[in-house]
Amino acid sequence: MKILITGGSSEIGQAIAKRRHGLGDEIYFTSSSEAHLDNSHKTFSQMGIPAKGFLFDFNEPSAADPNLFKLPIDALVLNAFGKNPKLTRFHELSAEVVRSYFDGNISGNAHLVWRFLPGMVERKFGRLVYVSSLSAMTGTSRYPVYCAAKAALEGLFLNLAVDYGEFNILSNIVRPGVIATERTKRLWSKTYYVDKITEVIPTKQVGTPDQVAEVVNPLLSPTSYMNGSTVTVSGGLPMVRSEGVLDL
Ligand SMILES: NC(=O)c1ccc[n+]([C@@H]2O[C@H](COP(=O)([O-])OP(=O)(O)OC[C@H]3O[C@@H](n4cnc5c(N)ncnc54)[C@H](OP(=O)(O)O)[C@@H]3O)[C@@H](O)[C@H]2O)c1
Repeated sequence: MKILITGGSSEIGQAIAKRRHGLGDEIYFTSSSEAHLDNSHKTFSQMGIPAKGFLFDFNEPSAADPNLFKLPIDALVLNAFGKNPKLTRFHELSAEVVRSYFDGNISGNAHLVWRFLPGMVERKFGRLVYVSSLSAMTGTSRYPVYCAAKAALEGLFLNLAVDYGEFNILSNIVRPGVIATERTKRLWSKTYYVDKITEVIPTKQVGTPDQVAEVVNPLLSPTSYMNGSTVTVSGGLPMVRSEGVLDL
């Protein structure tokens, strides 16, 4: 199948691409800038994956490579997402930061879905996977706009599941917990953080990009009956270990 994975530099995106290439898929990806596009082409080539990238910045959908939208893709994996702008409470963010974060991440992702749906409807086949986050339902502290934007797109995906199921277009959500990628390196590279976080994660481990990629496969299956589902890949979070807290 032809699969478009957004966010070429993302290690989670790359892990999904690796698994799907291994299963025979044609891999396409997006990058937010020309420089990232170049780097990601190099990375995929080093990984032995003949992937083709296209420029697409959430903040400027109209400047996207027009060839991107001509691709007759079978599956779209929305993996790209802007980082939470700043660790802070909501009222401490400027109105402009809030507006542009929502505009970019919510509208940018929605734009991609909107562009690819007509072709999928025509071909009567589509697999839509949204890499959300546990934060969409846990309200992670000091991640106000990230939590809100992740949850907003989950709402869209539930609607897509209802409105497009009859066209064999299945929409599903993946919610990763704490995954060791470049994005979270400032956290998991500190022993202090790992000790604290693994105290509460039931499996006592931070996850890997490949463990996220593993749960995407069934959602892309041509024979799947999963639609509107949410798969959590988090080692058991938000259920928490409570030894030391509940010791009476
Ligand atoms: N790591 C975790 O612990 C964790 C936990 C829960 C959920 N997730 C989710 O998993 C996904 C991948 O995470 P990751 O850790 O691999 O993240 P990452 O390394 O930060 O990758 C983020 C990706 O988003 C793309 N992106 C950022 N801003 C963009 C913009 N304005 N326009 C278009 N693309 C943009 C980047 O594009 P370029 O390729 O151009 O750099 C990059 O590929 C994200 O949706 C993240 O929210 C991650």
